[in-house]
Amino acid sequence: MGEAYVEHDSAKVLIAEIEAGGPDDEFYDAKVKVLSEMIEHHVEEEEKRSEGMFAQARAAGLDMDALGEAMASRKTELMAEYKATGLPTPETPTLDNTSLGPTA
Ligand SMILES: [Fe+2]
Repeated sequence: MGEAYVEHDSAKVLIAEIEAGGPDDEFYDAKVKVLSEMIEHHVEEEEKRSEGMFAQARAAGLDMDALGEAMASRKTELMAEYKATGLPTPETPTLDNTSLGPTA
């Protein structure tokens, strides 16, 4: 579980950097590639048949249709926020004491 939190925070940092730097950034392509590989790995973990978070949610008796609808509606909200105001400063609680964190 800790791994997933660090992956979330690392993705937020990379996304913010990619957004801020743009294609002229020396490491733009590398950052996009690393982000893409990281997300792919992360989703694979979340979607594992028995131990992934969705399998666990199903096993715990959650209404998966309702969960799907809630997630889709939250995504719509977040996309609207992004269009209106851009990305918020990433909150990265697992990275705050490293050179990647906002306190660096
Ligand atoms: Fe995740």
